[in-house]
Amino acid sequence: MRLRNGARRFGLVAKSFHWGTAALVIPLWGLGWYMVGQTQDLFWQYELYQLHKSFGFVVFGLALLRLVWRLVDPAPPLPAGMGRPLRLAAHLSHLGLYACLIGLPVTGFLMSAASPLGIPTVLFDTIPVPHPLGPSEVLYELFRAVHYWMAMLLAALLAAHVLAALHHHLVAKDDVLLRMIPFGRPKARFPDCRNG
Ligand code: HEM
Repeated sequence: MRLRNGARRFGLVAKSFHWGTAALVIPLWGLGWYMVGQTQDLFWQYELYQLHKSFGFVVFGLALLRLVWRLVDPAPPLPAGMGRPLRLAAHLSHLGLYACLIGLPVTGFLMSAASPLGIPTVLFDTIPVPHPLGPSEVLYELFRAVHYWMAMLLAALLAAHVLAALHHHLVAKDDVLLRMIPFGRPKARFPDCRNG
């Protein structure tokens, strides 16, 4: 498999970013919901929060690297048969996904920094990250609300993303899903796919 994207398929680097992000973000989302309810054991809750923050930082780093890589190695074009409204919806939903992958870690970190509880952020129990803000009830509630609604938006966008991929594969019968699947091969009806 080639490292870079071709005309018809994604390369190894783009596929690794895509599936690596999915493998982290979906459990992180579930962990976010689970940990807020663990109030009966505060030590356990503290550990879960630190784990959530740590993997949130990993997602943030991956999202930044992925954006840089996308500029260096543009995605293959969408199928020619897709109309303008669908293309626009695809571009907007991808933009929304990137915005959540960046915005969730940023608002999560700022919420933690502004929390009146003053709990430190220590990544993977080893790397302390200095907080850029002091405790502020107002800012804490603001970032908390944005983090919450962004998490809801991310869930809606992810659901739409999966449904769209299935629609491409099962209804439109094009190669959009196959070209992102780890060992998927675009169909031979594209004569130039050997180069892509
Ligand atoms: C893509 C990355 C992230 C995702 C998908 C995510 C998702 C979530 C979800 C679903 C919740 C539960 C809903 C809520 O009460 O807000 C949550 C809560 C929380 N997240 Fe994140 N998060 C991410 C990154 C981060 C980061 C990097 C930090 C901090 C450095 C962070 C800090 C928090 C905190 C402190 C809460 C608890 C809020 C509360 O006590 O009500 N999150 N997150």
